[in-house]
Amino acid sequence: MGLTIYVNGEYMDRDAPCISIFDHGLLYGDGIFEGIRAYNKRIFKFDEHIDRLYNSAKAIDLVIPLEKEKFKRIIIDLCRRNEIVNGYMRPIVTRGKGDLGLDPRRCKEATVAIIAQPFDPLYGDAYEKGLKVVTTSWRRNPPQCVNPNIKSLNYLNNVLARIEANQADADEALFLDNEGYVSEASADNFFIILNDVVTSPPSVTNLRGITRDTAMELAEQKGWKTRKRLFTLFDVYSAEECFITGTAAEIGPVVDVDGRIINDGKPGPMTLELMKAYKDLVNSTGTPIYE
Ligand SMILES: Cc1ncc(COP(=O)(O)O)c(C=O)c1O
Repeated sequence: MGLTIYVNGEYMDRDAPCISIFDHGLLYGDGIFEGIRAYNKRIFKFDEHIDRLYNSAKAIDLVIPLEKEKFKRIIIDLCRRNEIVNGYMRPIVTRGKGDLGLDPRRCKEATVAIIAQPFDPLYGDAYEKGLKVVTTSWRRNPPQCVNPNIKSLNYLNNVLARIEANQADADEALFLDNEGYVSEASADNFFIILNDVVTSPPSVTNLRGITRDTAMELAEQKGWKTRKRLFTLFDVYSAEECFITGTAAEIGPVVDVDGRIINDGKPGPMTLELMKAYKDLVNSTGTPIYE
């Protein structure tokens, strides 16, 4: 079965020409997006993702021409058309079609496009072996520039980091912020477990990850201490455990950062427990697609 996508009120084949070359999402990266997962015919943390999409839009003064409930119904409808059981959904909203010249007033209406496709675990056997991460020489864009809390179509900084990870044969790239503190990975949040405390950097320097919040909640339910605080690579290298979180990556154990082997080089026991709890949660909760 071919994949159906949604663009501005129409359902079409994934290869259909659908976005104008004058769309400011393409010309200027002027737009926002989300990444959402479906497990077992249910959409995980649907409201949280939709809220973040609308908050990103608000931050760039972009009006999404649909009520939230209507937007959600279209995503569900697209999932049904593509018979999604386990899937990944990508809503994208751009400033819309304008002309050359970056003034957003040239765009009369936002472009709304949605992809919903089947999706399997991102890292394959690395969930058992652990992931290799390298620190990128690029710094995460600070809140003084395009705020990292905005899930914008400006991901070039992240792409550059990813290229460095590829060149180092690593699975992910780790950003520092402008002060040299750990910020996040190219498409994931970053955690250390140090002195038994599940720790992640404060969200001013990174995306407020929905998976990160979930991991923090799961850790707290287990009675573990959690903390958001600044830390440096020294803490990473000497951590008991490290892991990444993201909608696509889920919870991924990190065993090597910049060639430093984390603890005994195996996924840590607390990380493994969190991975299991996360798996149980995603498979048992969420908004049903087919009711
Ligand atoms: C830069 C960045 N950080 C972190 C994340 C993880 O966020 P979430 O768990 O909400 O998917 C993502 C992915 O969405 C991302 O692109």
